[in-house]
Amino acid sequence: MNTVITGLQWGDEGKGKIVDYLTESADVVIRGQGGNNAGHTVIAKGTKYVLHLLPSGILWDNKINVIGNGVVVDPIGLCIEIERIEAQGIEICPEKLLISDRAHVVLPFHKELDAAREISLGDQKIGTTKRGIGPAYADKVNRCGLRMADLLDRPFAEAQITRRVSEVNEILAKYDLPVFTAAAVISDTYKAFERLRPHVTNTIPVLHKAWKAGKNLLFEGAQGTLLDIDFGTYPFVTSSNTTAGGSTTGTGLPPTAIEAVIGVCKAYTTRVGSGPFPTCDEGLSEYLHNLGREFGATTGRPRGCGWLDTVLLRFACMVNGVTGLAVTNVDGLDEYDHLKICVAYDIDGTRHELPPADRSFWDRAKPIYETLPGWKEDTTACTSYDQLPPNAQAYLTRLSELCDAPLAFIGVGPDRKQTLKA
Ligand code: IMP
Repeated sequence: MNTVITGLQWGDEGKGKIVDYLTESADVVIRGQGGNNAGHTVIAKGTKYVLHLLPSGILWDNKINVIGNGVVVDPIGLCIEIERIEAQGIEICPEKLLISDRAHVVLPFHKELDAAREISLGDQKIGTTKRGIGPAYADKVNRCGLRMADLLDRPFAEAQITRRVSEVNEILAKYDLPVFTAAAVISDTYKAFERLRPHVTNTIPVLHKAWKAGKNLLFEGAQGTLLDIDFGTYPFVTSSNTTAGGSTTGTGLPPTAIEAVIGVCKAYTTRVGSGPFPTCDEGLSEYLHNLGREFGATTGRPRGCGWLDTVLLRFACMVNGVTGLAVTNVDGLDEYDHLKICVAYDIDGTRHELPPADRSFWDRAKPIYETLPGWKEDTTACTSYDQLPPNAQAYLTRLSELCDAPLAFIGVGPDRKQTLKA
């Protein structure tokens, strides 16, 4: 079954674990958007792996992993990640990792451009991961980006980089940020690129061949629906299509190749960075942080935490065409007495069951809550859905009803075996 895994909230939903779980039956695992702003933590056989750009199938011996054309690749960051994962005993060879020659390159100055934009936005800053993702996508759309295929043509790449460095330095100087020499950018980029060169190829025919041969394809989404450049809480979003559609434009596989969409959400809501978060709750944030939970895998930042928001989840299920929900971190709520679920927003006296597009509405959106009893029991040792406490099952059933999507998986802990079929 060719399956898209997509985040339904603001990222960090635990997609890595669900991807890892489904990877067992997949032949090919594909990333189609985002870059090393993503951070997936996967615990397999007792070892913790943090993946940023590498598809989660890399932890398995017999899977093909593809970084598709829609991804922005930071060659220096990717090399560091490869070295780190190799040091944990995972082999990464060209047969196992393919990088699209159409993928755009994140260059060192993109990170500084990210910083410059944040400075210029002042208190309206996005709170980016400072990985240069937005500026790299901006160059792509602005038709002045560099693709992996361009790095194969060194004289062309050098000329492009030299031209762009002089443009970029003018911007950076305005913000007193470090400027670059083209020679340093070229040398650092090529040092990393030499490690990646054997992996760079035209991934589209490889993917089509696998599809036509009936192989199981797994599309690994990064970030989440509310960070989608079109459907998210704009402008507090990332710069790619994080929703299911991004899996096709970002890989060269058509929509007809997709057979299932698993939408991943937490049993509550979290967000890092700036932007609207109507159900944010200080008490719940403090409670989860005290448990050592909800610190970002990429930046280590504490995430803001809040109640489950089914206004946002309902919309996310619509735009992704979710065929099954994976609800993670259910165990995070084990000790709570009463749990709130936001079922609608009150905006100036009008009930809204879907999120507004008008950014001025967000400040006035007051969540309308339903309250459900907690289960006050440890769920981490449950090995089947039936073993979950009745109140936990009732909470999940209500979530599914409110989102109009069926439950598929439930996560009760970070380990691979703590994923239950619903
Ligand atoms: P950027 O993707 O670094 O440009 O950041 C844009 C917004 O997306 C910021 O609010 C980031 O915190 C958020 N973001 C990007 N990647 C992730 C992720 O993997 N998890 C959660 N938030 C993310």
